[in-house]
Amino acid sequence: LRMPEHYPRPAAIERVLRRDERTVTLLFRDARCAEALPGQYVMLWVPGKGEFPLSLSHAEPEEALAGVTVRARSERTRFFLELKEGQRVGLRGPLGTWFTAKMGEALLVGGGTGLAPLLLLARQLARLGSRATLIAAARTSSELLFREELEALAPSSLRLLYATEDGTAGVKGLATDVLEAELEARAPSALYACGPEPMVARVVRLALGRGIYVEASLERPFKCAMGACGACALGGFLLCKEGPVLGPRELALASDELGIYTRDHAGRRVSLHG
Ligand SMILES: Cc1cc2nc3c(=O)[nH]c(=O)nc-3n(C[C@H](O)[C@H](O)[C@H](O)COP(=O)(O)OP(=O)(O)OC[C@H]3O[C@@H](n4cnc5c(N)ncnc54)[C@H](O)[C@@H]3O)c2cc1C
Ligand code: FES
Repeated sequence: LRMPEHYPRPAAIERVLRRDERTVTLLFRDARCAEALPGQYVMLWVPGKGEFPLSLSHAEPEEALAGVTVRARSERTRFFLELKEGQRVGLRGPLGTWFTAKMGEALLVGGGTGLAPLLLLARQLARLGSRATLIAAARTSSELLFREELEALAPSSLRLLYATEDGTAGVKGLATDVLEAELEARAPSALYACGPEPMVARVVRLALGRGIYVEASLERPFKCAMGACGACALGGFLLCKEGPVLGPRELALASDELGIYTRDHAGRRVSLHG
């Protein structure tokens, strides 16, 4: 009997991989999440702490192994750093839309934990034999996620370009600086983006302005994750169900809001320009 996707399933954390001072990858055995497509997310419930939407960074169907990579952004999420192997959690999912792998020259742009779904996409593209470039960005080199995994795909299956704000790895600057230089040199057949919203908004505008096919994964507060409460609305789309990955048509329709304002957990508009 296959439970409906919104019925929480118990799972145990099988491995914890420490990435940096505030980021961990949690691996769990779950056949359904292990079949997730790149860009899909899981609602991870930690007893006593709450339920969090997290993109799947790992999905290995042969081993029924799946994983998420969480960065503790505030006091509320610091507990993630203390989770231990064997700890029981609840899972709903995999949920939401996914990146559609197109053949040709794919260009992936990711910053911070936005690299999580792009790691899965880069692996899928490598399996399909597609030639992809990934611009991976962070504030500083120690916060660049998945270097080992990504460097294992490069150079045969992935062209890897780094950007750090302090210049400690790759180009000194933002992911979008590297992207602009890339777009001067070649036109990709598809652009895929995930990361801080100002970055994603800039990638989307560059792509739409040049007529390049683009998909982006976006964040808003998620509560029900089943299209019922409206907390996750962005530009008329419910991101928990119609996203988190939006295509070019939806991104163009959401452009009045994308990168301009978000919403807090009480639904109030919050400017993204500080
Ligand atoms: C589709 C999707 C995929 C995501 N994937 C990832 C991922 O791969 N890795 C990752 O690290 N994060 C991911 N996130 C973000 C993650 O789910 C959490 O939103 C984030 O970790 C929350 O961080 P925070 O509460 O520490 O900080 P913030 O979201 O910056 O919140 C700041 C403050 O808001 C308040 N607040 C926030 N949420 C609530 C709440 N529910 N109830 C009450 N108060 C609240 C708290 O006071 C908190 O300190 C994803 C989000 C979405 C929507
Ligand atoms: S989180 Fe409730 S509608 Fe999306």
